[in-house]
Amino acid sequence: MSTEKILLIGACGQLGTELTEELRKIYGDSNVIASDIRKSDNHVFETGPFEIVNVLDKAQLGAVFAKYKPTQVYHLAALLSATAEQKPKLGWELNMDGLFNVFDAALEYKTAKVYWPSSIAVFGPNTPRDNTPQFCVMDPTTVYGISKLAGERYCEYYFKRYGLDVRSLRYPGLIGYKSAPGGGTTDYAVSIYHDALKTKHHECFLSEKTTLPMLYMPDALKATIGLMDVSADKVLIRSSYNLAGMSFSPEEITASIQKYIPDFNTTYKPDQRQAIADSWPRIIDDSRARTDWGWKPEYDLDKMSQDMLKNLAAQYGVKSI
Ligand code: SER
Repeated sequence: MSTEKILLIGACGQLGTELTEELRKIYGDSNVIASDIRKSDNHVFETGPFEIVNVLDKAQLGAVFAKYKPTQVYHLAALLSATAEQKPKLGWELNMDGLFNVFDAALEYKTAKVYWPSSIAVFGPNTPRDNTPQFCVMDPTTVYGISKLAGERYCEYYFKRYGLDVRSLRYPGLIGYKSAPGGGTTDYAVSIYHDALKTKHHECFLSEKTTLPMLYMPDALKATIGLMDVSADKVLIRSSYNLAGMSFSPEEITASIQKYIPDFNTTYKPDQRQAIADSWPRIIDDSRARTDWGWKPEYDLDKMSQDMLKNLAAQYGVKSI
């Protein structure tokens, strides 16, 4: 019997859905409490406890901490880069006040470990774009990036000042077939696979040569749960770790898909998300994650394409690639 009680806040998002499923496999359905501002209809949320939680409502959040006394909390509720640019005030409020509310509840209820995701969005135009180091100039231009950078500083602050065991990763774009992304600049790299199977055509909101760092969901889950599992003395960076899987452009992912679906094609119509992508790194140096706690990704672009297309083909009931 697991002695852990794990609370996920923002569980119905792209990452939360898959983390809920994975953590329930490891810790048992009843020990993993999913929560979000509204419940999604994904079957994952029928297998164990679910609570409605608006992370900006301190009383509601506190009541859930009091009810379950979680030993671990994954705080995933946020507005992502593109959505936060549409609603900058709400983006800042949700991303920052939400974090403070979770930190304060974790201290009050003596939560042993807290996970909070940061992002490549913490970097900006004056950051080295290739092999972006762990420590370098960080001048984010989006509300999302600014809130993630401030959040990282507070992660380290709460660790040093209050001893809260906060752990964090700077995710690249996350790609998976089980859950839909929402409001990110990297989301094209998920919808392109759906389009490849549905219509064999994708209209991309980024230009063909826009290289961005990306990570396949099984690797993202392995990194996240791996970081939460290691002993605290191995977590030497308490702001947030650089994390990388692969880097590619829309042109390159198109070529990868064409290996399996030769008549697939992509056209390009960059929108306001292009400027966001242009301010982000191309390739991330994640050597600290590798040396400090043994991070190693398994998937490259072609291996991911094969797995995505196989699984989505089954979902759409089309002939397997
Ligand atoms: N995938 C995220 C976004 O595009 C980056 O953290 O907003």
